[in-house]
Amino acid sequence: MQETYYTVPGCPVRIALVTDLHERPYARVLESLRKNRPDLICAAGDFLYAKPVREGIKVEAAGVLPFFRAAAALAPCYVSLGNHEWMVTEEDLRLLRETGAHPLDNAWETVTRKGAQLVLGGLSSGRVSAYRRLREAGLTMEAAAAEKDILAHDPPVLGWLDEYCAAPGYHILLCHHPEYYPRYLKARGIELILSGHAHGGQVRLFGQGLYAPGQGLFPKLTSGVTDGRLTVSRGLANCQLVPRLFNPAEIVYIG
Ligand SMILES: [Fe+2]
Repeated sequence: MQETYYTVPGCPVRIALVTDLHERPYARVLESLRKNRPDLICAAGDFLYAKPVREGIKVEAAGVLPFFRAAAALAPCYVSLGNHEWMVTEEDLRLLRETGAHPLDNAWETVTRKGAQLVLGGLSSGRVSAYRRLREAGLTMEAAAAEKDILAHDPPVLGWLDEYCAAPGYHILLCHHPEYYPRYLKARGIELILSGHAHGGQVRLFGQGLYAPGQGLFPKLTSGVTDGRLTVSRGLANCQLVPRLFNPAEIVYIG
């Protein structure tokens, strides 16, 4: 696991960006967090793997609660939901909250760190809201899970972002999908957007990724800082059949 350090002008705090843990061992992640002592820990989605398909108390079975308990003891820890969290329930979120972490499910909170007012938001994956909508419409878990096209392509819930952007302070939005940035976020005055999901483009050659879900071949947003504000982590694990090549897993620090 590589530790990557980026400078984002105007960022008033030091942030650890943890993405795509996918239920993998996390001892080295905690070791890095203890060594680097960030002011905030932001987990921008896909801490679960979510197979087999099963609803509820997923976070406990996945073994991720001890990770969040340890992380939240080090610094305020905010968590947003990625596509692999599509089946989390209110009970899952309650258990996450019990660790001391702050799950932000299309929601925002403020916190003061180093004298700066920070406005932390979490934009859940469209897969999360699509699945909930299908279940609320009366579909069984299996029938909802079979609606693959809807689950893959439904947009995220954006209505709360106006109020979020209007809140005074430095805005940090956890948004698992980097491809949401050009589609839904670029025109908004959000100072820092934290993403993962692309796994660095799986195979990296000449500083360029080969493929990313949601972006296809030769994806543009797989790693690094774009427009001085979208910061994409290559993530901590792999969940694709294709191995990662020339593309080490990473934890990102922003300051
Ligand atoms: Fe993802």
